[in-house]
Amino acid sequence: HVFDNSANASKAVAHEIKKLIEDKQKENKSCVLGLATGSSPKGLYAELVRLHKEEGLSFKNVISFNLDEYYPMKAASIHSYVRFMNEQLFDHVDILKENIYIPDGTLEKNEIAAFCKEYEAAIERVGGIDLQVLGIGGNGHIGFNESGSLQNSRTRLVALDHSTRIAASKEFEGLKNTPRTAITLGVSKIMDAKRVILLAWGESKSAIVAKAVEEGMTNLVPASFLQEHQQVDFILDKEASSNL
Ligand code: GLP
Repeated sequence: HVFDNSANASKAVAHEIKKLIEDKQKENKSCVLGLATGSSPKGLYAELVRLHKEEGLSFKNVISFNLDEYYPMKAASIHSYVRFMNEQLFDHVDILKENIYIPDGTLEKNEIAAFCKEYEAAIERVGGIDLQVLGIGGNGHIGFNESGSLQNSRTRLVALDHSTRIAASKEFEGLKNTPRTAITLGVSKIMDAKRVILLAWGESKSAIVAKAVEEGMTNLVPASFLQEHQQVDFILDKEASSNL
């Protein structure tokens, strides 16, 4: 779906999410959202906050699982995805704190494997992800599933690509301060989501969007695995679609 600009696209996606949340409310069910960080979903979160404040959209039945977190990372750090999610969305809506799940960047190394297993089990216990929001990295990563990630990869600690670290280094004031590793939901759990919406804006994403959508599936471009997903939408602005 190609929109004139990212603001209109974000509004359309926010309305889809509103509808899903409200449909679930009518059935007295929870709505399980898989959420992403990065610049791409910021407009979507801003619109969801507006829908909460101005149109009474409640998040009381929402359970959210974030895709990833840098490791190591303190929750209170200005760079943490915990902080990002609080600032962009959670602090401004009525989601229950106990329904928010974000990979824990403060674990000891030897605790990570068990944590990742439990993170996936928690998703299973609530019936799986109803809707997964994704961005796309310049190299085609989804979450922090970098090039080389397998389609059946699980939630795990990963090494970040040099290109990903360079992209992040602006926020970390230099490459030497940029984390080398992260915890990410695996490709297999992303593929298990009932519905996937990938957001991409701007000319800089146009080449990788074209690769993910139009070229063969390859683990060099993990977003290309989405070609096998039963219900996936790529939401693009004009610039991001310019190579299709
Ligand atoms: C980071 C995140 C991804 C995100 C990607 C793209 O690497 N871990 O989940 O999709 O960046 O970020 P942006 O939306 O800022 O382009």
